[in-house]
Amino acid sequence: MEKISIIGSGYIGLVTGACFAKFGHQIIFNDVNQQMLDDLNKGIIPIHEAGLKELIDDGFQKKLISTTTDKRQAVNNSDIIMMCLPTPPKKDGNADLKYIRNVSKEIGAIMNSSKIIINKSTSPVGTSKMIREIIRHYYHGEFHMVSIPEFLQEGKAVETFINGDRQVLGFENLGNHALIERMKKLFSDLNGEIVLTDTKTAEFSKYVSNAFLALEISFINSLTSICEKLKIDILDVSKILKLDKRIGEKAFLNPGPGYGGMCFPKDVLSIVGISDRFGYTNKLLEVVTEINVRQKEQVFRKIISVPGLNKESRITILGLAFKKDTSDVRESQSKTVIEKLLENGYQNITVYDPVAMPNFKKFNLPISYADSIENSLVHSDCLVIMTEWDDFKSIDLAEIKKLMSSPNIIDSRNLLPMGQARSLGFYYMGMGRN
Ligand code: UGA
Repeated sequence: MEKISIIGSGYIGLVTGACFAKFGHQIIFNDVNQQMLDDLNKGIIPIHEAGLKELIDDGFQKKLISTTTDKRQAVNNSDIIMMCLPTPPKKDGNADLKYIRNVSKEIGAIMNSSKIIINKSTSPVGTSKMIREIIRHYYHGEFHMVSIPEFLQEGKAVETFINGDRQVLGFENLGNHALIERMKKLFSDLNGEIVLTDTKTAEFSKYVSNAFLALEISFINSLTSICEKLKIDILDVSKILKLDKRIGEKAFLNPGPGYGGMCFPKDVLSIVGISDRFGYTNKLLEVVTEINVRQKEQVFRKIISVPGLNKESRITILGLAFKKDTSDVRESQSKTVIEKLLENGYQNITVYDPVAMPNFKKFNLPISYADSIENSLVHSDCLVIMTEWDDFKSIDLAEIKKLMSSPNIIDSRNLLPMGQARSLGFYYMGMGRN
């Protein structure tokens, strides 16, 4: 069993550590946020992820998990150091590597014996090399750098961490068989094909995977308006596309309010930024972002085009998280739509989300928060579905019609039964359906 320290116990760090503890490895969570680690010790998990609390509680109970803000303690008591740090976008689209640089310096200054340093942060080509050079500056002994990008999906992080489609292990020297065998052993508890490659390919493939998925979403979203005009249901088109095995049933071809979250928006921008630096304008990915921005505007336009709706009307927004089953509101599509409504004088907005409201409140928007779906809909003139939560799928349309002042629905996720809504007398507009 390995002794692993997780440097940066955010989304990726917590899930990575919890899952490796499940397989019996010794985990030290390190973070600069003392409060968060104190909470963790008390069983309070900062993110909403199915199964994560159980794994962390179990890890503490088996004494496989400990926490510290002290990097020295974390580094010196482990053989493998996993860097799970944020790489937020800078204004020019390129990833900001300041956290990785600072931590590399600290690790280099602390290290007192050979370690395996794994970079799991989504970071541009050359980051592994940069980390090596920084550490080498402070620590002159031998150590190994491995780049292992993370492909988990928020909302089902534990499941997708353990059951990934592939584990991409990027090495500096593919001739280092002892290191490769050790890494293969560590990652063989997880499902998915193990791919051995160099660090640059590993780094780039993470960005390219996300950019490709974002491209699929923008592709289908680029067709929503035309499907509405042609009176074609985009869900039928999407189903037909997914039956082509070259495209696949899990393809990201579900139309919606555009992609959000901390990954797709920044990773697409990052490839555009890197391409620019090398003198290539990546028009395709520029358009992917453009369509994504436009898609949120489409939702706004659909709302303000609801017959009879005016600036005093009460608008209910259901869903604040950027996707279901997470409390994450970073790059939330709801936020953009709500801000657009507010800017345009629609001041009577009530929102509800089963788990993301505490995070959303930090944006300090002048809106009302309801404590249930039903209460959010009392005297409402328009229901807007922004996140595809299962709770919203089972809304009783006949019941909510009695609560609402006007029966209008804008369903940006195509979640509710359109036929039933219309036969009950709702004005209903989805995305790409007529
Ligand atoms: C994404 C990738 O799917 C993961 O493989 C990757 O590890 C992760 O980014 C990351 O870089 O850390 P995530 O952002 O958690 O995962 O969520 P997704 O399920 O990919 O959804 C992203 C956005 O696209 C959401 O807003 C979702 O609602 C939207 N989406 C997804 C669509 O609008 N349509 C689709 O068909 C699929």
